[in-house]
Amino acid sequence: MTNQDHFPIRGYDHIECYVGNAKQAAHFYDRVLGFKPIARLGLETGVRDHASYCLQQGNIRFVFTSALHPDHEVARHCNLHGDGVKVIALEVGDVDVAMREVKARNATILQPAQAFEDAHGVIKTGIIKYAGDTVFKFVERANYRGVFAPGFAPIETQSHSPVGLAAIDHVVTNVYLGEMTYWANWYRDVMGFNQLTHFTDKDISTEYTALMSKVMENGSGKCKFPINEPAEGRKKSQIDEYLDFYQGGGVQHIAMNSGDICKTVRMLRERDIDFLRVPDTYYDELADRVGPIDEEFDELKELGILVDRDEDGYLLQIFTQPIQDRPTLFFEVIERHGSRGFGVGNFKALFVSLEREQERRGNL
Ligand code: FE2
Repeated sequence: MTNQDHFPIRGYDHIECYVGNAKQAAHFYDRVLGFKPIARLGLETGVRDHASYCLQQGNIRFVFTSALHPDHEVARHCNLHGDGVKVIALEVGDVDVAMREVKARNATILQPAQAFEDAHGVIKTGIIKYAGDTVFKFVERANYRGVFAPGFAPIETQSHSPVGLAAIDHVVTNVYLGEMTYWANWYRDVMGFNQLTHFTDKDISTEYTALMSKVMENGSGKCKFPINEPAEGRKKSQIDEYLDFYQGGGVQHIAMNSGDICKTVRMLRERDIDFLRVPDTYYDELADRVGPIDEEFDELKELGILVDRDEDGYLLQIFTQPIQDRPTLFFEVIERHGSRGFGVGNFKALFVSLEREQERRGNL
């Protein structure tokens, strides 16, 4: 049974990152992560103060935006946060309805419903505040036939090599101690989401650090948003490290589905993506812990892919190192075989590895 949203959400529309150099970011997402550049705007399209690139792989769209002047919202955002996620955009059937519903539930409106039009049709959007400087944007694109959005010029197809990333699975936010429940309630009250699960510091703790997490999802279960907050530990948690370097709450990682995680990870490794590595001993007891799976344990060990099983099935997952110098945003690649979880059985091994990296950075 699916629960009823306050307003129907069709799925993730795109993620927009504010970055220092959108041209180079786009190149990295293209050549390394396998996203195809599809549209852009900037000086050549008559936009004088910022440049944006839209890239797509499977159903995943990323937009990278840079300022062209220092006194610009995007420049100030990058100065404070470094490169990071600014906009989580969700596709809705009707932006007017979505904005009316969230306004009635006390969302902070940053941009009321507004139509943008070009020769290819109309897109309607509305924007509300979320944690830190992050925002949610609602997008209604049923009446738009262009490549991405009005103002963007299509990019001619070039050689492009996807790695099999197919869809966004979940988007994780880090917030300060004491704020997790506030934002979980915000998802419930403003967005009409339900709590899927809850992890306490008993589930997620190591010798040094602990964190707590609540996972919220929309009625269809398509959009899942875990929210992490640090718990008191003997040393600084990975969440504290993020908050220090991001200078506030924001998106910690984006998990993307692959239908063949071994192939995806092999390709990403060939392109020098650096993944978090758990100790080889992780694989010693793995077959006993997770039981029979379709994949070869030797290949998973070679690639560093993790496995977890729950009552619904199993999942395969792996995490990249941070993708910028600040230890903030990173990615997860996930392949689900029935499990709707997040790999709680891997948390301990992962966090010990994370702490080793934190220690190398002088942040533990
Ligand atoms: Fe995740």
